[in-house]
Amino acid sequence: MTVVTLKNIKACVFDAYGTLFDVNAAAREEQASLGKKWEEVAVIWRTKQLQYSWLRSLQKRHADFWQVTGDALDFALHSAGIEDTDLRERLMGLYLKLSCYPEVKPLLEMLQSSNIKCTILSNGTPKMLSAATGNAGISHLLDGVYSIEEVGIYKPDPAVYQMAVDRLGLHPSEICFQSSNGWDAYAAKAFGFNVVWCNRFAQPEERMPGKPDAEIATLADLPPIIGIPPFSSESV
Ligand code: LAC
Repeated sequence: MTVVTLKNIKACVFDAYGTLFDVNAAAREEQASLGKKWEEVAVIWRTKQLQYSWLRSLQKRHADFWQVTGDALDFALHSAGIEDTDLRERLMGLYLKLSCYPEVKPLLEMLQSSNIKCTILSNGTPKMLSAATGNAGISHLLDGVYSIEEVGIYKPDPAVYQMAVDRLGLHPSEICFQSSNGWDAYAAKAFGFNVVWCNRFAQPEERMPGKPDAEIATLADLPPIIGIPPFSSESV
């Protein structure tokens, strides 16, 4: 693991799905219906969801993340040989209240008390993100929830990362971006952010431009990298 201390960080920007929220939680909660296929459905659902986001951006045929998520679920269920419209609706409903990882809330509380702004930058629609943050009880700890719907194109288009810069009114060097998605972390670093890759799933490094500044296993390891607690007293 790389050990670094990033200086002068004024804001932490977090990816949502997979980073703050457990994207496997919906299928896991429907284990009783999905049986041993739940993991297969979860993996195909997530993989297709991301593929469709990239494909729609390349084709310039944007549809919001709610539609893309539903399309991906339809593909995943079909691929697993499951035809059950009630189950489909339940899984979509569960996607609106995915649980967040256990360290997320205490981390956000710590960052807030250290005067570091915290925001989300996500492919999710405003409605999806509002439901997820509300359900996780973290809305009051966030200074902003930025949805790519504002720019109409998905990550990793640089316009998405630029939106966080514009909305925060900070220089990219003052922002630390966290994602568990390697491709997102590398693209954000190539854009110009400081980046901490929260490599929850122990993925190999990407062969893409933009090696992140640091790699951690969970977000609990973030504070020392951004200089907390020493930085907190200087930021007021
Ligand atoms: C997001 C996806 C990439 O939240 O996880 O933007």
